Amino acid sequence: MGSDLQSDILGRPGAQPEEEPVWPGAARWIHLGLLLSVTFQMVTGLAGWLLGVFPFAWHVRVGLFLVTILGLQWGWLWITLQGRRTLGYLFPWTPRGFSALAKDVVGLSRGVLAPPGPRPGLPGFMHGIFLLSVTLVALSGLTLLGEFRGWWSGVPMGTLLTTLRMGALAVAIQWLGHVGMVILHAIKGDSIWGIFSRRGRTSS
Ligand code: HEM
Repeated sequence: MGSDLQSDILGRPGAQPEEEPVWPGAARWIHLGLLLSVTFQMVTGLAGWLLGVFPFAWHVRVGLFLVTILGLQWGWLWITLQGRRTLGYLFPWTPRGFSALAKDVVGLSRGVLAPPGPRPGLPGFMHGIFLLSVTLVALSGLTLLGEFRGWWSGVPMGTLLTTLRMGALAVAIQWLGHVGMVILHAIKGDSIWGIFSRRGRTSS
């Protein structure tokens, strides 16, 4: 049980407790792909809706890339051992997860930021909500594209467009919150760049 917990927290079997938590390689690459493609879709979608400037062909190309990355993300989360552990950080529906979440919320109300890295708690849960929102919006986009191209029919296009527009706003609010937390952690001097570093350590 002790070594299970150890590998659970550190993301690989046999790691020593004093070592820094490590982001698994797949999690890092998928995170980068999602970050870039979601940002592009959000900016181009909002520009199309609010400014009437819509690079449609690129929105569709990057949209299909995003759907692929989301497929990899959910596949990795469900199929692999590390993915299933990460799923527990994204949706912490266990007594241990709930108590980590509650601890982080109490800490935040006192101005203490939750530590970054692969662990159960508030940052993981916010990522879970973000991933669900992005998945819902991307599926609406794909359904609309399929209707345009005649792959299928029947879902009202107006509903899909409204879902995309409201979804883009929800994604933008969470995106700003995400960037805001990164800035706060950076100001505090926390090592948060591990997810982008080659070795995946939280202190890079
Ligand atoms: C985070 C993901 C996404 C966001 C935030 C997003 C956002 C938006 C927004 C706000 C619009 C409305 C633009 C307007 O009113 O002119 C839109 C339209 C559209 N999106 Fe996306 N989108 C996303 C993903 C996707 C994906 C994955 C696809 C397809 C693979 C896609 C395909 C489309 C299509 C076909 C339209 C309709 C264009 C039109 O009405 O001419 N989107 N998107």
